[in-house]
Amino acid sequence: MGFPVERPRRLRRNALIRDLVRETDLSAGDLIEPLFVCPGKRTRQEIPSMPGQFNLSVDEAVAEAQECRSLGVPAVLLFGIPAAKDSRASGAYDAHGIVQEAASALKKEVRDLLVIADVCLCEYTDHGHCGVVQGEEILNDPTLELLARTAVSQARAGADIVAPSDMMDGRVAAIRKALDAASLEHVPILSYAAKYASAFYGPFREAAQSAPKFGDRRSHQMDPANAREAIREVLLDIEEGADLVMVKPALPYLDVIYRVRQAVNVPVAAYHVSGEYAMLVAAASRGFIDRERVLLESLHAIRRAGADLIVTYFAKEAARLLAR
Ligand code: PBG
Repeated sequence: MGFPVERPRRLRRNALIRDLVRETDLSAGDLIEPLFVCPGKRTRQEIPSMPGQFNLSVDEAVAEAQECRSLGVPAVLLFGIPAAKDSRASGAYDAHGIVQEAASALKKEVRDLLVIADVCLCEYTDHGHCGVVQGEEILNDPTLELLARTAVSQARAGADIVAPSDMMDGRVAAIRKALDAASLEHVPILSYAAKYASAFYGPFREAAQSAPKFGDRRSHQMDPANAREAIREVLLDIEEGADLVMVKPALPYLDVIYRVRQAVNVPVAAYHVSGEYAMLVAAASRGFIDRERVLLESLHAIRRAGADLIVTYFAKEAARLLAR
C-alpha cells in the first residue's frame, strides 16, 4: 500500500483523535515523589542545585505528602539527613532515626499514602560511602547486616515498601530474610537493581550531604557503558526476592529500561534523578526550553520505554499539569 492510501496524519488531525490512539499514558498514579527529611521543626530549606526542592523537617514532610496525595500522587520515597553521622551509619537503623520518625508521622497523619524508604548507608556514614569501609575498600558482606537492620527498622516504623539503593551483592536476600524473621513478610522490596555509577546524582549528594569523602561508587554501582549487565543484576535481585525493580537514572538509560521491561514480569520503576531535574530546571529558567512541555515529554518517554512507575522530583508539578 503506502501513500496515498496510507496517511498516518489522519490519526493526528485533532486532539480528540490523538487522545484516542495514544499508546502510553502518564498519570499522577504512576509517580513517586522523593522527600529529603531533616531534623528540626518548620524547616524548609531549598536545595541550591535543585530549585523547588527542599530539605524538610518531619512536620513539613507531612504537609508535602498531604499535597502529593491531594494531587493524586500515591507515594513518597524518603531520604534522611541525620543530625549526626558515624563510621557505622548508626542513624540509618536507629529506631528513632530521621526516616523512622518521618515514616511513622506520615503513616499516622496522611491518609492512603504509600511510604517508601530508601535503604542505604551513604547519608549516615561520616565517610559518605554506602557500606562499611576498611582502608579504601567498601566491604560487601559486613554491610549486608546493617542494611538489613535498616530495612527492618524502617518497616517497623511504618514504611510500606523498602527500597535498597546501595548496590551491595546479596542485599535483597539479606533484607528479605531479616524482614521475614521480624514478621514483616508482607513488606515488598523495591530494588534499585540496575543503578549506574552516574554523575547525574550530583545535586542529590548536595541535598543529602552524602558525597563520598574519598574515592567514588564505581566498585558497586554499574558502569554506564554496560546494558547486558543490567539484566544480570535485575534477574539476580528478583531471584533474591525483589518485588519491584528499578533502573536509575532514567532518560540517559531508556534502552536499559526497555531491555529490563522485556526481560522481567515484575513491575519496573525508573528514577528520573536529581541531575536530570537540575538540567531541565536550569535550561527552562534561562528560557532555552519550555519547562512544562519538556517535563511531560520526558516522563512520557520514560513510560514509553517501559517503566510502570517513575520516581521524579516533578511528581507534583506533573500531576498538576495532567489534571488541567
Ligand atoms: C543512595 C542514593 C543516591 C540516589 C538515590 N539513592 C545517591 C548515590 O547513589 O550517590 C540518587 C538520586 C538522585 O540523584 O536523584 N542513597
